[in-house]
Amino acid sequence: MVLATGNAAKVYCLNWLEAAITARAPAPFTILDMGCGRAGAFVRLLSLYPQVSYVGIEPSAPACEAARQQLAGRNAVIHQGWAYDVAGRLVQEQFDAVISFSVLEHVVQRQRYVDSMRDCLKDDGHILINYDAGHFVAPATTRERLKNLIGPLLAAVGIERYYQRFVREDDFRQMVRSAGLHIVEDKFFNTRLKGVHKHIPAEYADEHMQRWLDYELWLNTLGIRYDDARARTWFSRNFILQKETPSP
Ligand SMILES: C[S@@+](CC[C@H](N)C(=O)[O-])C[C@H]1O[C@@H](n2cnc3c(N)ncnc32)[C@H](O)[C@@H]1O
Repeated sequence: MVLATGNAAKVYCLNWLEAAITARAPAPFTILDMGCGRAGAFVRLLSLYPQVSYVGIEPSAPACEAARQQLAGRNAVIHQGWAYDVAGRLVQEQFDAVISFSVLEHVVQRQRYVDSMRDCLKDDGHILINYDAGHFVAPATTRERLKNLIGPLLAAVGIERYYQRFVREDDFRQMVRSAGLHIVEDKFFNTRLKGVHKHIPAEYADEHMQRWLDYELWLNTLGIRYDDARARTWFSRNFILQKETPSP
């Protein structure tokens, strides 16, 4: 059984987490999800591994409510709020894994957000982050195109919720360095097979997800150098990060 379907980057990260959790079992493992939305990616993982405790941070009240309902009965807590300055405000402990799935392209104060992830991470913990370019290189609807235009204007007057802007490779790497983090691994996922997945009959969804992930993992072994122009072919960028040096 795959841990989720519909997004190869997220499934890759969930598999990575599952390996880390089982390597440490039965000891506890802690996950902080910065911009968890409805937390759909974590339903299967948390059902399979009750020793995992999960904290989600999410500014949207309806999404928080949906996440609480989806994760009812699991070891999970959802806090409503922006994922800025989270340490000491919304959470008091540091985590084994800090997650950001499809969030950074919607974040206005990006350096503050990446710094916040770092502050919530244990010294030997890992950040698993992916972000998407599809909104910008292949907007599917008029609403998407409008958000690309209007979101930055609203953000300039303090309204963050409609914001979305392409994440440039150089800018991301600079943010990582400024936060005192380093890149342990980088990959690219979500070719147009993401669109194919929507047409796969439900009984084949897990099998298709596995074949899609295997294929895109193979593409990652071919020595293809990622740059911003490749975002037209691979819609998601995926990184694993660690702290450069332990916290003082
Ligand atoms: C495309 S959704 C992804 C949700 C979830 N991570 C997932 O993979 O299904 C993007 C989410 O980021 C949240 N978001 C945007 N800016 C944020 C910020 N500064 N801090 C925390 N969450 C943020 C939005 O409210 C939204 O729920």
